[in-house]
Amino acid sequence: MEELLRGLEGLLGEVREKLSGSPDPQAAEALRLQALGRRGRLNEYFSRLSEPQWNPKERSALGQRLNAVKKELTQLFDERLTQRPGASRGPHLDLTLPGFCPPAGRLHPLTQTTDRITAIFRGLGFSAVEGPEIETEENNFEALNIPADHPSRESFDTFYLQSLPKLLLRSHTSPVQIRFMKAQGPPFKIVVPGRVFRRDAVDASHCFQFHQVEGLAVGPGITFGDLKGTLLAWAKQMFGGQARLRFRPHYFPFTEPSAEGDLACSLCQSRGCSVCGQKGWLEILGCGMVHPAVFKAVGFPAGTVGFAFGMGVERIAMLKYGINDIRLFYENDIRFLQQFP
Ligand code: DAH
Repeated sequence: MEELLRGLEGLLGEVREKLSGSPDPQAAEALRLQALGRRGRLNEYFSRLSEPQWNPKERSALGQRLNAVKKELTQLFDERLTQRPGASRGPHLDLTLPGFCPPAGRLHPLTQTTDRITAIFRGLGFSAVEGPEIETEENNFEALNIPADHPSRESFDTFYLQSLPKLLLRSHTSPVQIRFMKAQGPPFKIVVPGRVFRRDAVDASHCFQFHQVEGLAVGPGITFGDLKGTLLAWAKQMFGGQARLRFRPHYFPFTEPSAEGDLACSLCQSRGCSVCGQKGWLEILGCGMVHPAVFKAVGFPAGTVGFAFGMGVERIAMLKYGINDIRLFYENDIRFLQQFP
């Protein structure tokens, strides 16, 4: 027993001394295997625990001492491993390992599309302004020449606030035209990105909330030609230089004349395919010359002229990226979102 304990102390002393001589990492590792390895010296002592010569008390004392020495040796080697020459203590750092890329967030595809639409209009001299999502009936409808009994109110299936019946969730971004013109006189050119709400049943192309970018340019001498030129310049930057637009007569209460703008389907060169429903054209916006009743509602003098337009961001993003279901934008599936770096 004495002899065994002395041997153990000897092992401990020897390791301590050799480690204090700052051996190189390879020598330290060799020493560790020699002392603590599976076939190392400490395990030799452990195997002697089962020898029949020990009574239970001796065996327990010996076991305790063996475990204590093992702990101390392990500690000695651990300290040595975290101590590199010329460096302060700290976890071992291997500078030769390849780095890993920290996960980076990115903007939602609808935000990216809105930003792109807006940036192009900024380049054409427009400023971007915003308005509230909760609106008055006056701004959302009446001032835009849509009185209460007007049939076109039906196309805006509107959410009203229960507690405040005259307030609603705006069904388009056009009310911001009214807000802006009540605050500022011509000339000006603005675009208004924002979220809008309608009581639509959800399917592949409808959602109860979506996004629009509204446009309004008011100033002396502005014509329908300016409207067409502006939107074509925008479309060429948004969809590429080959982009073509056509204007089809339409009706909106707040513009006269009014039109819908169609983008030539680039998949079939306007010959007709499943994406454009065999039409060759894809409707992307509404527009027109601002109706005199709208200028009157905001107190502008008779004879004021300007154009306005409104486009759906989801629809444009779907065309630009080939997305066939609007719901994908709102599910936040990371596999979808990651495709928009
Ligand atoms: N507000 C219309 C809608 O949501 C879009 C629109 C059409 C806006 C023509 C305009 C416009 O400013 O001139 O359907």
